[in-house]
Amino acid sequence: MPALRPGLLPIFALKISLFMLHRPRRLRHSPALRHLVAETQLHPADFIAPLFAVEGKQEKQAIPSMPGYYRYSLDLLAAEVKDLYQKGCRAVLLFVKVDPTLKDNAGTEAWNKQGLMQRAIRCIKEAVPEMHLMTDVALDPYSIYGQDGIVQNGGVDNDATPEALSHMGPSHAEAGADMLAPSDMMDGRVASLRHALDAHNFTHTGIMSYTSKYASCFYGPFRDALASTPVAQKNIPTDKKSYQMDPANGREARRETALDEAEGADMLMVKPAGAYLDIIAQTRAQTPLPVAAYQVSGEYAMIKAAAEKGWLEEEAALQESLLAIRRAGADLIATYFVHDILRLLQA
Ligand code: PBG
Repeated sequence: MPALRPGLLPIFALKISLFMLHRPRRLRHSPALRHLVAETQLHPADFIAPLFAVEGKQEKQAIPSMPGYYRYSLDLLAAEVKDLYQKGCRAVLLFVKVDPTLKDNAGTEAWNKQGLMQRAIRCIKEAVPEMHLMTDVALDPYSIYGQDGIVQNGGVDNDATPEALSHMGPSHAEAGADMLAPSDMMDGRVASLRHALDAHNFTHTGIMSYTSKYASCFYGPFRDALASTPVAQKNIPTDKKSYQMDPANGREARRETALDEAEGADMLMVKPAGAYLDIIAQTRAQTPLPVAAYQVSGEYAMIKAAAEKGWLEEEAALQESLLAIRRAGADLIATYFVHDILRLLQA
């Protein structure tokens, strides 16, 4: 083969480029263009801020496995909710750390009108009535066993538990909660909660169901925050695998979705988020209802820990993780990064 004359080379290259009609890089050329063609956006009102309440005054307690996140006593909680609202957040999801002496196997403290949860609800509604206030409805913070259900007959008893929730739900609604978030994965809990609310005339109080909640190791730091880790006991495992879903299963999420829709849930949640993007996308395609996803404590802790070591850029990592959850199809995202993302969206 004769050697190519140097002068021919540019012509050769030009010829090839004429046949390349499609150059996706053209749309990535400048920041302005990238913004124009971005398919997914984050907005301050997309986020739900989880809140941890504790007894006491002027308590702002650090949670070692959730650096930068705190438990607040009610006086400080009101200020925290005001701050969130003022920064653009429109929804909070309330959890309480219950005094160990008030725990039992039936969860009776869960519907005490003067309980920490009920006082926290009143306190938040008084401080910021416009904030959409959601509450966790499950027995684990109240359970001496750290289980989400009543332990009897050698296991976590399904049918006894929604019965307890039907006392707990209306007591949250009476205190002023706008929406209840049943998180225990007992069968039939959404229907029994809806029934109990309606029977007490709380027809406007909504239900955001934890529809597809997996038995995940990523809840560890949260259980530290609420001191709700399952306690070892005879014949009852220290995990929640007999009621939370198996991470191996995706089709099963379709079944839970259909059931929660039929039982009257107003919004459906997938949890955790980052390792379950396929479930978020599938749920989004299956239901017309709003879909929420929960970026859980372990997802937060992973980013924080890697950033502390200097192995990840925290701001970039948290933004990318939230954008991915939104792209998968979540309309709303519960995340411990609410303050950070609101600040970054302002910038
Ligand atoms: C319990 C509940 C859990 C979370 C929310 N509600 C933990 C569990 O199921 O053991 C986890 C939230 C998180 O990890 O951020 N009803």
